[in-house]
Amino acid sequence: MTTTPTQDTLVRAGSLEEIARDGMKVVAAEGRTILVVHDEGRLYALDNRCPHMGFPLSRGAVRDGILTCHWHHAKFDLSGGCTLDPFADDVPAFHVETRDGDVYVDPQPIESDRRAHWEAKLREGLEGRLSLVLAKSVIGLNELEAPTDVLREAALFGVRNRAPGWSSGLSILTAMANVLPVLHEDDRPLAVFHGVVHVGRSTANQPPNFDLAPLETEMRDPDRYIDWFRRFVETRSTQAAERTLRSAIHLDLPRTAIAEMLFAACTDHLFLDTGHTLDFANKAFELLDHIGWEHAEEVLPSVVPSLTGARRMEESSSWRHPVDLASLLAGVHARLDDAIAAGSVRLDDDWRGHRDVADQILDGEPAETLDRMLSLVREGVPLEELSAAVAYAAARRAVHFHVSNEFGDWDTVHHSFTYANAVDQAMRRAPSNLLARGIFDGAMSVYLERFLNVPRQPHPAPSG
Ligand code: FES
Repeated sequence: MTTTPTQDTLVRAGSLEEIARDGMKVVAAEGRTILVVHDEGRLYALDNRCPHMGFPLSRGAVRDGILTCHWHHAKFDLSGGCTLDPFADDVPAFHVETRDGDVYVDPQPIESDRRAHWEAKLREGLEGRLSLVLAKSVIGLNELEAPTDVLREAALFGVRNRAPGWSSGLSILTAMANVLPVLHEDDRPLAVFHGVVHVGRSTANQPPNFDLAPLETEMRDPDRYIDWFRRFVETRSTQAAERTLRSAIHLDLPRTAIAEMLFAACTDHLFLDTGHTLDFANKAFELLDHIGWEHAEEVLPSVVPSLTGARRMEESSSWRHPVDLASLLAGVHARLDDAIAAGSVRLDDDWRGHRDVADQILDGEPAETLDRMLSLVREGVPLEELSAAVAYAAARRAVHFHVSNEFGDWDTVHHSFTYANAVDQAMRRAPSNLLARGIFDGAMSVYLERFLNVPRQPHPAPSG
C-alpha cells in the first residue's frame, strides 16, 4: 500500500543546487542509504545498494535516464528502479521532491503491493532461472508469511511448463515442503528456495504443457474410470489415460478413487522405472496436500507421461535371472486377494514384527521372504504395517551401503527406499489390494541390492 509522505516523514538530502551540480548524493536514513540523482533536469531517488550483489550504485554511471552498476553492468531505469537486466532484480525507488530550494526524500520505498511484487518476481525468476531473484522472492514472501504462495506458484509453473510431465524438480519441491514443519524457521526459506530452483531447472528448454479437456460425459462410475485408466496405461495410450484421469477429477469423483486409479496403474507392473513412477504419483498427492486439492486437475495428470512411458522391470534381466522374481511375484499377486480377505477378519493391530521382517527381506532368500510376508497378511498383519516394514528394510539397506560402492549404486538403494516409502505413504492415503502388490515388489527390490551391503557399512558411532 502506497502512503503519502508528509513533512514529518521526509528527510532532507541537500540543496537542489548542490545535487544538480554534483549529479548525485547519498543520504542515510532509517537504516538505508538512498542515492538521490539529478539527471536531465529531474530528480530521482533509488536504494544505493545494487539489488544484484550490493555494489554501491553511487559508484555507477548515469546516462540518458539509466543508472548502470559498474560491477556486473546491470542497468536500472532511474524513474522507478526497474532493471533492464532481470538477473539483477529491481532496485527500490523512493519519493523525492523539492521544497524551498532543498531536496527531500521519503525513506520508505515506494511499493504498492509487496505480495504481488514478490509473486511477479518469483515467476520471473522461474522463467529465467534466476537464482538470486528466486532467493529474494522466497525470502520476501516468507516475510509476508506466504510460503504456500511460493509452493503453489512454483508447482503450477512446473506442471505448466514441462510437456513431458512431472519432474525431479517437483519431487524436490514437495520433499522440501514435507520437511518444513520440522525445520527451524530460519532454515525454511533455504529449503523452499532449494525446491524452487530445481523446478526452474527442470523446466529449462522444455516445451509447455497443453492440457486435454475432460470428457463431456454422464459416466460417473469410479470403477469404470479406474478400469479405463489402467487399460490405457497398459497400452501406453498417454492421451487417453490423461483424459480419463482429468475427467475423473473434473467430475469430482472420490479422492480415494482417484488415488486408487493412479496407484493401481503404478503397480500393474513391477517397480516401474526403478520405482520413480510410484514415487512421482505419491509426491503429486503430497504436493496437493500443501497447495490444495483444487489444483488436482492440473497436477495429477502430469504424472501420466512417466506412467505410460515407464520401463517395466519384469522385462529386465535382473528381475528374471538367476532368480525369476517376476514369476515369484506373479504367484504372490494371484494369492493376495484371498490372503487379505483372510487377514481382514483377524486384524492384529498390535503387531510389532517390523524388525524381523526387515531382517528377512535384507538377508533372506526371495521365495521364503515372499511366503513369509504373504503368511503375515493372512494372519492379519495390517498392510500398512507390512509396507512400513519394507520401507524400514530399504532404509537399513541405505544405512549399511558401503562407501566403496560406486555413486550410481547409491542411486540404486535410494530408489528402493523412495519406492518403498511411496508404497507405505500411499497405503495410508488410499489402501487397496492392487496397491498392496507394491509392498512385495518393493521387498524384492531391496533383496536385489544385497551386495551393496557387502562389506556392510557399520552404523556410525555416536560422537562426543
Ligand atoms: S552488483 Fe551491481 S550488477 Fe552486480
